Amino acid sequence: MTAADFTVLPRHVAVIMDGNGRWAKKRGLSRSEGHIEGAKTFRKIGEYAGDLGIKHITFYAFSTENWSRPENEVNAIMRLFGDYLQEAMDRLDENREKGIRLRFLGDRSAIAPELAALMDTVETLTADMTKVNLNIAVNYGSQQEITHAVRSIAEDVRSGSLQPEDITPALIGSRLYTGDQPPVDLMIRPSGEQRISNFLLWQSAYAEFWYSDVLWPDFTERDFDEALRAYEKRNRRFGGI
Ligand code: IPE
Ligand code: IPE
Ligand code: MG
Repeated sequence: MTAADFTVLPRHVAVIMDGNGRWAKKRGLSRSEGHIEGAKTFRKIGEYAGDLGIKHITFYAFSTENWSRPENEVNAIMRLFGDYLQEAMDRLDENREKGIRLRFLGDRSAIAPELAALMDTVETLTADMTKVNLNIAVNYGSQQEITHAVRSIAEDVRSGSLQPEDITPALIGSRLYTGDQPPVDLMIRPSGEQRISNFLLWQSAYAEFWYSDVLWPDFTERDFDEALRAYEKRNRRFGGI
């Protein structure tokens, strides 16, 4: 498909990359092998979304709650994330040619320092790109994000630089990790679960939800097309008639 095949495209798509573990289990593989396949799907769908002309796409890679998993699984996910960061550095010219701005949403303080440093570098080196905004949520939790924003606002009120009446939804939104990016139009969750799992709660206030039973490593460009096709047919009312 190309952008011309759709009457309307979401400005911001969010994807909960779920089902890696079950995909591996079905094949008698380790959960980590599921994550390896899931990481390939992430690259494939990220690229496809960019080619289609989706301006903002956010992938949920690791939640604040995922630390409760066995250490070897957490390490495997972080290793894969490190590989991706290294690749992003190696392919910097290519990414810049495609106009891809990479950003990471989440609390970086708990991420290994060498990874956190790479995250900062990749963000800085793509900060002037404007064609595709590719966000990856790592150690991300929406409630934590909102709490962090509220705290920063409270500090400004305490210091006197902000008045309580200046606190608006727009101000709160601007203090989130997504900052000036548009709200989520379409939220995609594969693997049969129909829940939000602490992802982009504020940003998805009026998002359309699309679910699929496909496990993330099996997710294809055609599944993404199907989600976009469903989105195209939705009647978004935003409280109107
Ligand atoms: C999603 O797949 C990847 C992460 C949460 C990091 P899961 O690992 O949650 O896969 P299932 O849900 O156990 O199948
Ligand atoms: C959500 O998936 C987090 C990511 C995809 C990174 P989970 O597998 O952690 O969600 P729950 O536990 O099923 O809600
Ligand atoms: Mg899961």
